[in-house]
Amino acid sequence: MDITGPRGTYDILPDKVGKWHRLERVMRQTAELYGYQEVRTPLFEHTELFARGVGDTTDIVQKEMYTFQDKGGRSLTLRPEGTAPCARAFIQHRVYSQPQPTKWYYIGPMFRYDRPQAGRYRQFHQFGAETFGSRSPAVDAEIITLMVDIVTRLGLRDYEVHLNSVGCGRCRLEYRRKLAEFLQPLQAELCDDCRKRVDINPLRIIDCKERRCQEVLTGLPVLRDYLCAECAGHFAAVRRYLDQYAIAYVLDDRLVRGLDYYTNTAFELHVAGIGAQSAVGGGGRYDGLVAACGGPDVPGIGFAIGMERLLLALEENLVEAVLPEGLEVFVAYTGEECEVVAHQVLRELRQAGIRTDRDYMGRSLKAQMKQADRLQVALVVLIGEEEMKKSFYTLRDMDTKAQYQIEQAMLVTEIKRILGK
Ligand code: HAM
Repeated sequence: MDITGPRGTYDILPDKVGKWHRLERVMRQTAELYGYQEVRTPLFEHTELFARGVGDTTDIVQKEMYTFQDKGGRSLTLRPEGTAPCARAFIQHRVYSQPQPTKWYYIGPMFRYDRPQAGRYRQFHQFGAETFGSRSPAVDAEIITLMVDIVTRLGLRDYEVHLNSVGCGRCRLEYRRKLAEFLQPLQAELCDDCRKRVDINPLRIIDCKERRCQEVLTGLPVLRDYLCAECAGHFAAVRRYLDQYAIAYVLDDRLVRGLDYYTNTAFELHVAGIGAQSAVGGGGRYDGLVAACGGPDVPGIGFAIGMERLLLALEENLVEAVLPEGLEVFVAYTGEECEVVAHQVLRELRQAGIRTDRDYMGRSLKAQMKQADRLQVALVVLIGEEEMKKSFYTLRDMDTKAQYQIEQAMLVTEIKRILGK
């Protein structure tokens, strides 16, 4: 049998899991520092949620969703992102009727039928944070600061925050007209996808990665120049708040984001040197999303960090990952009778909170000592006939190789003392 994992997926084996724990721990702690609470939504949703929320004409909905029919004939989709599901849960549980804002975070797998490459998978993980219920520009600044705080607390230094405003529906209407005017004569030079986008969703062309499109787009009208007074005021206030916190950013005219729900503030966190996929995180305001999903007119803003990309960036920046906590004690034995005692000792040590293991392969005592060495334990408890007869255990310090006898009843206390527990 040579079944491998599906393309675009990967396994996290035990030697790598410690990095994930650390990542998740810092993310949770930082989010909670800012008053965000964890929310967990299902891994699949009704397909319509993403079609309406993320947008019918986006790449995600058109090309990248894992959509299937269940046995009841419903169309379901593995979540490609976490914002629309949060909006759905916010509406379904009438969370909007509670005092606002609502501050949620989530960690979990997302699914996109993307072309796999370094930093791009079909099942990947996101940490995301969403604030519902406030239009205050201070909230925009808070969410960007949270994103920056998470990566800096993890040790990342070389990154760039890109910032833009995509305005509201009204400013975009005027801009779309200008954009269409600009693009009409250039249509033949665009890629196939963008030629279709000219009429249905011209904003999507701005961040097309095809080189021929990028060349066509020099001289493109800039969306920020078309902001209405309210949107321009909001953006100026966001910048003031960021300056107050000394959060550095670069203004990026081409930053429009790949999802349709964004309004006003849009931002991304980029790291150079991790391949073509330099966006480690991204987000923005989505004041129309809750209403588009069938809820009341409640604003929102959030971001998500791609956890694989963040790990890649940390490795690229030579940030040490914490090793998983290994075993502390190994219980070695000889013969059947001692095996029963060893099994009991194993239980007692584990119940006392000491990370302990034993041999389950019927190895000789010598081979068990080798195994203990390999597992890098600090101590080995040796249980043989001599020990059984005289009611003691032998304790071996694997560092100094010193061995001494210890009364059976004192074993746990002595081991705790040595390990400093
Ligand atoms: P997004 O930009 O589509 O935004 O994804 C956020 C991050 O997820 C990206 O910056 C990237 O690091 C990671 N990511 C996306 N696709 C893949 C993939 N195929 N493989 C590995 N990593 C990937 C969102 O998903 C929005 N929901 C963010 C948001 C939250 N906006 C408001 N609130």
